[in-house]
Amino acid sequence: MTLRIQVIWGMSVQIIPCQRHLFDIPEDVAYLNCAYISPLMKSVVAAGTAGSRRKARPWEIFPHHFFDEPEEARALFARLVGASANDIAIQPSTSYGAAIAAANLDLPRGGRIIVLQEQFPSNVYPWREAARRSGAVVETVRRPAHDDWTAAVLERIGAGTALVAVPHVHWTDGAMLDLVSIGRRAREVGAALFIDATQSLGALPLDVRSVQPDYLVAATYKWLLGPYGMGFLYVAPHRQAGRPIEEHWSTRAGSEDFTRLIDYRDEYQPGARRFDVGEKANIHLVPMAIAALTQILAWGTPNVQASLRAMTDRLDGRLHALGLKTLPRALRAGHYLGVRFPNGVPAGLARVLASENVHASVRGREAMRVTPHVWVSPRDEDRFIEALARGLRAGA
Ligand SMILES: Cc1ncc(COP(=O)(O)O)c(C=O)c1O
Repeated sequence: MTLRIQVIWGMSVQIIPCQRHLFDIPEDVAYLNCAYISPLMKSVVAAGTAGSRRKARPWEIFPHHFFDEPEEARALFARLVGASANDIAIQPSTSYGAAIAAANLDLPRGGRIIVLQEQFPSNVYPWREAARRSGAVVETVRRPAHDDWTAAVLERIGAGTALVAVPHVHWTDGAMLDLVSIGRRAREVGAALFIDATQSLGALPLDVRSVQPDYLVAATYKWLLGPYGMGFLYVAPHRQAGRPIEEHWSTRAGSEDFTRLIDYRDEYQPGARRFDVGEKANIHLVPMAIAALTQILAWGTPNVQASLRAMTDRLDGRLHALGLKTLPRALRAGHYLGVRFPNGVPAGLARVLASENVHASVRGREAMRVTPHVWVSPRDEDRFIEALARGLRAGA
């Protein structure tokens, strides 16, 4: 592949050319909705199919299969976030990771749990429940008029903050949070940090060594380009002695030896493995996650971010020419465009986009979420802008 080199964040990154050949997307589909569900690469479908074929022939499944693939997936995810495989648990969803954190964080009565206004529910309900149980209080940071969530969150963290439970980017419009500063401030006041990276990981670099979260979770079906029904949880070393929310055979020490499973043992597998979901060796999903993570690591997340930033910058200019508004460039993640319609979303817009096979997420009455990825071609960009212009005219 031919690569264009750019320098951002003081490091050189490569613009990845259109990767549509890796996906099974018909020519007439312009899909700019990765934040909803990503399509699967052909290699990921093949890995899932091979997994299902193996389940069709169980006499070819051996005890080591229950451990080798989960370990491979764990190690790949660890590379993505700058952790060690020991720090990673295999999960079925974002909410499962939040449930583990909620079961293990010691939230004092009156302690404050910081969340963002309109945060995704899987990172709100667990804290409302935890607050009900412990007497802690959920405190919602309102959407700041200046769109700078980092400043708004930093302002709220102080004495009495027990937990900061935030995403890396706001799921509605891609507004980005500076997690290094937020993590530093949380540590200063003794607050824990829980991060939902479902709308960023895979497309936006994140290193747990600089952010230092207590927990970080991501579902695989969006920017990790993996299957639905799977995720990963990073658990900081000082949290790894915690309590799992379910007890099953494969998280216990020595479970690799199938002949001794009923020599019940109290010790767990090392590190964060005790937090693995039951049936973590999902024969269908884990191979898919491995294939997807392998490709993402081959591209490199800084390169993915730079490539999507270049694409959304181009679209941004054209959206402004149509009279639409977006977040200031410095405050939005490169893989997202939250489009605001000063006069409201035109009534016919969703219909026009659907009829032209152009896919973005029209949200509520005022906004649209545009989230392309490396499968989007220059022709898709044109088709999106042209359909949008027609939608605006239809609603005028
Ligand atoms: C920010 C964010 N977190 C998590 C999820 C998915 O949560 P769960 O895996 O609990 O279904 C979504 C889905 O849209 C999301 O936008």
